[in-house]
Amino acid sequence: MRSPQSKDAPLSEEEDEKMKILILHGPNLNLLGAREPEVYGSMTLDGINEKMVLLGKELGAEITCMQSNHEGALIDALHDARTWANGVVFNPGGYTHTSVSLRDAISAIVIPVIEVHLSNVYAREEFRHKSLVSAVCKGKVSGFGWHSYELGLRGLIDIISALGIIKV
Ligand code: DQA
Repeated sequence: MRSPQSKDAPLSEEEDEKMKILILHGPNLNLLGAREPEVYGSMTLDGINEKMVLLGKELGAEITCMQSNHEGALIDALHDARTWANGVVFNPGGYTHTSVSLRDAISAIVIPVIEVHLSNVYAREEFRHKSLVSAVCKGKVSGFGWHSYELGLRGLIDIISALGIIKV
């Protein structure tokens, strides 16, 4: 898993004032582009991350992207985000439908989390209709391919701006 920018390196005043957002991707999303493109589209994970960094620049937010196939590593990333991020755009992948621990991690951190899915989970198998995390997220976007991340990021930035939280 890629780690966020070093917390030890001193930030310039301008960087320090910037909203900081974690884009967190769960299991199997490292295979995007090759994985069931008819369901998830042809954009790779790096492609999505590049789009998010560019959109962040446009909207004045600093974006850090991480992916892990491991539940514990995702929980650690959420805990860590409390210390440096203003919010999280999170695609928990298959853990969406199974993980009490990820739900608890989202509840435990105070920063807003937006749940995103590339596919429309409600148009798929019944086991995907249930999300254990939705109730503890600020919002949810599903079914717009990689644009789900874009919509989620725009919504999260609006929420953070309205809350007036900039410094962590
Ligand atoms: C997904 C939907 C999940 O049901 C699935 O397990 C995924 C991807 C999505 O982005 O559409 O891995 O989160």
